[in-house]
Amino acid sequence: MSFSRVRASWLAAAGVLLASQSAWAQDGTKLYRELCASCHGEDGDGDGPAARFLTPLPRDFTSGQFKFRTTPLGSPPTDADIIRTIARGVPGTAMPAWSGRIDAAEMAAVAQVVRGFGSTAAPPPAGLQIPDAPALDEAAVARGQVFFQAMCATCHGETGAGNGPGSEGLTDGWGEPIRPANFTRGVYKSGSAPEDLYRTISTGLQGTPMVSFGALSDAQRWDLVATVRSFETARRWERGRVPQPPRSEP
Ligand code: HEC
Ligand code: HEC
Repeated sequence: MSFSRVRASWLAAAGVLLASQSAWAQDGTKLYRELCASCHGEDGDGDGPAARFLTPLPRDFTSGQFKFRTTPLGSPPTDADIIRTIARGVPGTAMPAWSGRIDAAEMAAVAQVVRGFGSTAAPPPAGLQIPDAPALDEAAVARGQVFFQAMCATCHGETGAGNGPGSEGLTDGWGEPIRPANFTRGVYKSGSAPEDLYRTISTGLQGTPMVSFGALSDAQRWDLVATVRSFETARRWERGRVPQPPRSEP
């Protein structure tokens, strides 16, 4: 095959690809307007008509700040990060889980729209590879407690209830008040599996006072995961032991 024929077929293929990509972009924009704009705003600035009723506020995508990432603090998220959030939603907030309502291709298309509202200059760096979780047993909880009391309790409280001395008066990157997570509730914005907590502890939540603790060793981070989860279990255990009021007969 001559050079020019290779080039011609390459150009034809690229043309087909571009055409299908632009149809894809159109679909994404349409879906975004239908499903997301009421909260996140037509222009992605977080100022849709429903926004003023919500705490926390819908994300302002034009800020380029994303909380839920596998990439280092200060970096844009990967496509997979945005898609994961769209699929699972943000538990404990108004952000719905879209898995089962739109398909994988639609999520990918709408994720590109979301990304497009911010600065598209730099491609995201490679995301964190999460190693397999070791045993998160009582020994891990105890080891993690030492770090937790030293580094986390000031915000999250000694018992993980989100009420440490540093928990008052915090604001987020958009100037809104924010509170540290209360671990006794067992509701996590970025997922409750050990791997999810490992990711949050490793990369932090951009635009919040929750910074990255990626400088800790793998083992230290897993120990912290065990400790964070133990606060939830302790609460359940306590609840079981609280004497119940006598049942009144109807
Ligand atoms: C009912 C309101 C509502 C709708 C509808 C909604 N969102 Fe959200 N969304 C939120 C809120 C509130 C947050 C912020 C949660 C937080 O900051 O803790 C959020 C956060 C997000 C984030 C997190 C970004 C980050 O910081 O990592 C993404 C991505 C997102 N939404 C995408 C979408 C997409 C795409 C749609 C439509 C398919 C959509 N949302 C529809 C309310 C909504
Ligand atoms: C300066 C205060 C501060 C310190 C110190 C801090 N955090 Fe946080 N953390 C926060 C805030 C604020 C949030 C809530 C962010 C939000 O709601 O968007 C949070 C959220 C979290 C979450 C919840 C993520 C989710 O998915 O909902 C985890 C897990 C967490 N922190 C773990 C830790 C651990 C472990 C440490 C210590 C190594 C720590 N934090 C230290 C302020 C802090």
